[in-house]
Amino acid sequence: MCGIVGAVARHDVTNFLLESLHRLEYRGYDSAGLAVTDNQGSIQRIRRVGKVQALQDAMIENPITGRIGIAHTRWATHGEPTEQNAHPHVSEHIAVVHNGIIENHESLRIMLIKRGYHFISKTDTEVIAHLTHWEQLYCGGSLLEVVQRVISQLRGTYGTVVMDSYSPELLITARSGSPLVIGCGIDENFIASDQLALLPVTNNCIFLEEGDIASVTCNIIKVFDKYGNDVKRTEIKLNTKYDVSDKGVYYHYMQKEIYEQPLAIKNTLKNRLRYGSVDLSELGEKADLILAEVEHIQIISCGTSYHSGIVARYWFESLIGLPCDVEIASEFRYRRSVVRKNSLIITLSQSGETADTLAALRLSKKNGYLGSLAICNVASSSLLRESDLALLTKAGIEIGVASTKAFTTQLTVLLLLVVNIGRLHNISNQIVQDIIQALQVLPQRIEQILSMDLGIADLAEDFMDKQHVLFIGRGDQYPIAMEGALKLKEISYIHAEAYAAGELKHGPLALIDANMPVVVIAPNNTLLEKLKSNIEEVRARSGLLYIFADINAGFNNSVGMRVISLPHVEEIIAPIFYTVPLQLLSYYVALIKGTDIDHPRNLAKSVTVE
Ligand code: AGP
Ligand code: GLU
Repeated sequence: MCGIVGAVARHDVTNFLLESLHRLEYRGYDSAGLAVTDNQGSIQRIRRVGKVQALQDAMIENPITGRIGIAHTRWATHGEPTEQNAHPHVSEHIAVVHNGIIENHESLRIMLIKRGYHFISKTDTEVIAHLTHWEQLYCGGSLLEVVQRVISQLRGTYGTVVMDSYSPELLITARSGSPLVIGCGIDENFIASDQLALLPVTNNCIFLEEGDIASVTCNIIKVFDKYGNDVKRTEIKLNTKYDVSDKGVYYHYMQKEIYEQPLAIKNTLKNRLRYGSVDLSELGEKADLILAEVEHIQIISCGTSYHSGIVARYWFESLIGLPCDVEIASEFRYRRSVVRKNSLIITLSQSGETADTLAALRLSKKNGYLGSLAICNVASSSLLRESDLALLTKAGIEIGVASTKAFTTQLTVLLLLVVNIGRLHNISNQIVQDIIQALQVLPQRIEQILSMDLGIADLAEDFMDKQHVLFIGRGDQYPIAMEGALKLKEISYIHAEAYAAGELKHGPLALIDANMPVVVIAPNNTLLEKLKSNIEEVRARSGLLYIFADINAGFNNSVGMRVISLPHVEEIIAPIFYTVPLQLLSYYVALIKGTDIDHPRNLAKSVTVE
């Protein structure tokens, strides 16, 4: 979702701005633009709807240069994706880029129109540009003081960078609810909404915190907190490595990331499985004080991360007897929930910047939860910084908007956490050993699936002209059915829903006919016989069944029933294992349909607005 880049240097910055926008494309956007202050002190701006390449092509036709500039990839919230609504937005000599939503933009717009400003765009962002111009013209002060007064009038969320052609050596940047990082160069400095944009120029970064505002010149960076105090934010050296063209032998990042899962899980387990026990000492000394007190777990997350939370609920309750609730963050944050005694908040997030999950975490801190633990894939994320405890999934950078290796590594970490909390809550040694042994073989189990030709590519042909698909599973495979449905929806645009298999007869069975494929997840577990009854309910109504089944589950191909046999797998890791063929199914269906697999329409990699 949306991307911000800024630069101030002793040389032309337009190439850096464009290269950085390319690095931010994976986040999802609909238009792009940049503006520089040229050597004559004027703002030069180019914006285009569509891909960054269109902007780059336009720059070739009418090149602009400048030693200070800002750029943006927009994920429209207010105003359609048009060139006029693309950022940067300008008011005379002021240019602004913005991530987020200004909730009081309408009242500000009315006020500014009364003050004589003429709005060109339909966006909320444009109010920032005109308000900055007004504050500077009529109230004076430094650009920093002006922007401080402007953001005090904004409600909602923003990551923003302001450029004033009258001060062509200075950028002002501020964050509230949308991440920003400053890249520290030599006689040049940079700003971005995602550290990946900075990698070509620096590894040294300063992550702004909530409410921070900073002034950035070529060689001076000053940060102020939300109270206006001059603060020192730590400059850290990133060791992130990522080449934007690094798909290797794969056609798409999603495909690459599906096949990276064995390695991602190995990296996630590294140094955490030692001599037959789980080592999460990285949580720090205070962890045991909190975890020993836990009497309830409240998991909060969104999307795919929500599905891993539901799987974890089965584990926390069945394996260590800890009551566990799971809720999507956008609901949790807006309802009056009851806080259980000694309840631990666990947030799950690939990006660690999801607005709803962050807001839910911040809300939980006011509501008397025992503590918070984040499981996240980005070490420098807001979620990790704002949580009491943190565990990293070590999946590596996930570029595809459809989450794959982040999901399976989240489940891997959650199993480690079950053991870690369980040892403080009388988990049986047998269960501990079962989990550890299963985790140790998990990478090779997934390798096995990936190396098998499950015929999924051929199977995909059956789905390409379908309008609707049902995914069903029982027990801890029900959330896997949900994940399979989400994957298919989000990259092939086919409507797909998941149901607990036992629920079909309570309504969804009315949907069953020869045009409604039903995908079934059928491990060989204690619920198998019940599942077989549900399958018969579908068959009796001429349903079209695709069964991903344990090879020993006793299914055979027959009319209306296609069986994809999978090797037997340890029950505890079955939810992780059965996810992979569903990821492959959605990938191949989308491939046939020719959708933009890595950047599905309307979606963003990190949803930093609510
Ligand atoms: C998953 O494929 C989607 N891209 C989306 O549902 C995602 O899981 C959700 O937006 C949560 O993102 P997060 O894990 O970064 O918080
Ligand atoms: N709300 C702004 C707009 O619609 C910014 C959206 C974004 O974060 O890209 O232009």
